[in-house]
Amino acid sequence: MQEKIIVPFVDLKTQYHFLKKEIDSAVLSVMENTTFIGGEPLTSFQNNFAEACGVKHCIGVGNGTDALYIILKSLGITAGDEVITVANSWISSSETISQCGAKPVFIDIEPNYYTIDVNKIEEKITSKTKAIIPVHLYGQMAEIDKISALCKKHNLFLIEDCAQSHLAEYKGIKAGSTGIASSFSFYPGKNLGAYGDGGAVISNDDSLATKMRMFANHGALEKHQHQIEGINSRLDTIQAAILNVKLPHLQRWNKQRLKNALLYNQLLGGISQIKTPKIRTESMHIFHLYVIRAERRNDLMNYLMEKGIQTQIHYPTILPLLTSYNYLNLKAEDFPIAAAYQNSILSLPMFPELTEEQINFVAESIKAFYK
Ligand SMILES: Cc1ncc(COP(=O)(O)O)c(C=O)c1O
Repeated sequence: MQEKIIVPFVDLKTQYHFLKKEIDSAVLSVMENTTFIGGEPLTSFQNNFAEACGVKHCIGVGNGTDALYIILKSLGITAGDEVITVANSWISSSETISQCGAKPVFIDIEPNYYTIDVNKIEEKITSKTKAIIPVHLYGQMAEIDKISALCKKHNLFLIEDCAQSHLAEYKGIKAGSTGIASSFSFYPGKNLGAYGDGGAVISNDDSLATKMRMFANHGALEKHQHQIEGINSRLDTIQAAILNVKLPHLQRWNKQRLKNALLYNQLLGGISQIKTPKIRTESMHIFHLYVIRAERRNDLMNYLMEKGIQTQIHYPTILPLLTSYNYLNLKAEDFPIAAAYQNSILSLPMFPELTEEQINFVAESIKAFYK
């Protein structure tokens, strides 16, 4: 039987009610105009989001998975190529590589910040390597300066997976602004979430932006002028209108998430059985997820559920060990950190509107579990 939820993992209702008037009116206006594909809301969201990310081009697409696929295809990634990515992520980071016919090559995470271990990348670069996809996981950027230097040294494309890092920063660099192109997801629970699926690619490269726009639109820039075969992947106008209402609030929500995380860190800091997340210096961590490492993780998860606290695991099985990658014959020993952490990581409730009272309740419940 479902327990009574006291602290949900994510609460999208409170945010909707806060913006209800503006969102309802934006949606209704699209319905009145009946321009359901393209139109002004899409153009203005693309411009606004590009500006917020500090880049020239933004193209709205169907979701964050398509965004990665569109980038990889437009860069010409194909059979026989290898693309490096990180062992702990959502499967989109690697399945899109395979969908291009290329081979995903996984790298372990580094122990403190859970992003790709830059020191382990170079040994995996071969003559077939074409690109690196770091994932700015949980809202914290990978060491983009060092990864960018590696890409330059080996002449590789840098593609940033920013699905969890809208407006995160590291050393003054915004997520998505370094790579030749970067992907975003606007899945409802993301820091900037639509009311359905949505995504975007961003880039400073004019010719790549044109290719991506074309590929995402059946290979055509103008109706019936198909220069190549492409796919149909668009950000709906209704979703763009909603995202336009939400975008001006994103910085404030990100800061509120950070504030919530710092309170969690303070309240949980003294518990020896758990490790709280660390924040890189010179970075703006936007805490898409607040992930601890916990002893007896599964028992803690069940205990919290009984108390009405929802938690999740991101991710219970690292990518190389998923059944889908059996054919690569990879072992846990190849990814010692990520493989060890998959059994102890736990994502606690995190969203901007989380109250101090709720955070206190979660912390007190965790303390009670370990007593
Ligand atoms: C790291 C990462 N990459 C890609 C995606 C794919 O985004 P979408 O669900 O919009 O396809 C996600 C979504 O959860 C993600 O977390």
